[in-house]
Amino acid sequence: MTTEELNSPQGYKTPVGILGVGHFVPEEIVTNADLTKFVDTSDEWIVSRTGIRARRRAAPHQATSDLAVEAGRRALQAAGTRAEDLDLIIVATMTPDCPMPATSTMVQHQLGATRAGGFDLNIACSGFVYALITGAQFVASGTFRRVLVIGADCMTRLMNWKDRSTCVLFGDGAGAVVLGPVEPGYGIVGIHAGVNGAGGPSLTVNAGGSRMPSWSEGVDSSDYYLQMEGPEVFRFAVSVMGEAAIKALENGGFTPDQVSLFIPHQANARIIEASRKRLNLPHERVFSNVEHYGNTSCGSVPLALSEALEQGRIQDGDLIALVGFGGGLSWASAAIRWGGKKES
Ligand SMILES: CC(C)(COP(=O)(O)OP(=O)(O)OC[C@H]1O[C@@H](n2cnc3c(N)ncnc32)[C@H](O)[C@@H]1OP(=O)(O)O)[C@@H](O)C(=O)NCCC(=O)NCCS
Repeated sequence: MTTEELNSPQGYKTPVGILGVGHFVPEEIVTNADLTKFVDTSDEWIVSRTGIRARRRAAPHQATSDLAVEAGRRALQAAGTRAEDLDLIIVATMTPDCPMPATSTMVQHQLGATRAGGFDLNIACSGFVYALITGAQFVASGTFRRVLVIGADCMTRLMNWKDRSTCVLFGDGAGAVVLGPVEPGYGIVGIHAGVNGAGGPSLTVNAGGSRMPSWSEGVDSSDYYLQMEGPEVFRFAVSVMGEAAIKALENGGFTPDQVSLFIPHQANARIIEASRKRLNLPHERVFSNVEHYGNTSCGSVPLALSEALEQGRIQDGDLIALVGFGGGLSWASAAIRWGGKKES
């Protein structure tokens, strides 16, 4: 076994890392106080149950691709990669601009990524981490050298403002990373992914697909909106988040105490706190910005990663752990040794 193989626990032929990160959120801030003007809720209820104080809402003219393009542009800039040099674009989203064409094709066009292929990936809020580990496979195999992975969602478009138990939780946002080869010992060192389809009915958007097309008789407007059995999803999230991180770390030969920064899906501060305890990490080794953005679904993990970097919370050589979870029910995680960027 070569040194390179020893340092690539996934059996990656080429070690794969994140070369640049960027995020974009729409301008409009909707605070809890703003919501109380049209939702029967209170700042106290939302903050005590979720830790959320505000979220962003896309302007009427904005759609998911607009957020994705800007996040992608910023990640390319951070990586020092030209759009023309991209081989592949993966957009993780559950709120594409439309069923067809795929949002990734709009991003390809807007960025001028003339050589790139592209596809969308939908596995609800777990989407970004699934897209990350999918994109990594292309680099690891030596097939591609530059892959842009974007997580973007306009969740406010799926909110039923009459359903106070869900509409206060979500917001709009996007984050992106550029993947490429890194030095041995760096990059993605462990991954894990899972689904439990039996839990699917607890988190759904029922209409607009082939089972219940938008034109079918008897479709109720609530069928177009996100519906959730909150307490059930809460129990699932608490049980899966820490375990998923542990499995990705174990997969790379690491233990939670070696983690410099844990970046979990930003759905609820109580879920994040439960997973912090499960991993036995001090508060300063867990990143959260749920307070400012709520749950941005596929945007959540890369938006948190991007802000963590901006705040100087990640240094070269740090071991970080990312976890996404959501509808499906689904989850995915990745352990990453930060840095090791190669020239060119
Ligand atoms: C939704 C969630 C915050 C609810 O918290 P909770 O602690 O279970 O809520 P409680 O059971 O304490 O409270 C429910 C009560 O609050 C009320 N309530 C619900 N939403 C409310 C709101 N926005 N404002 C005020 N009251 C609200 C309910 O009507 C219910 O009242 P009742 O007891 O009189 O019937 C929680 O279940 C959750 O976070 N679930 C996971 C959601 C998630 O992360 N989803 C995304 C996955 S990707």
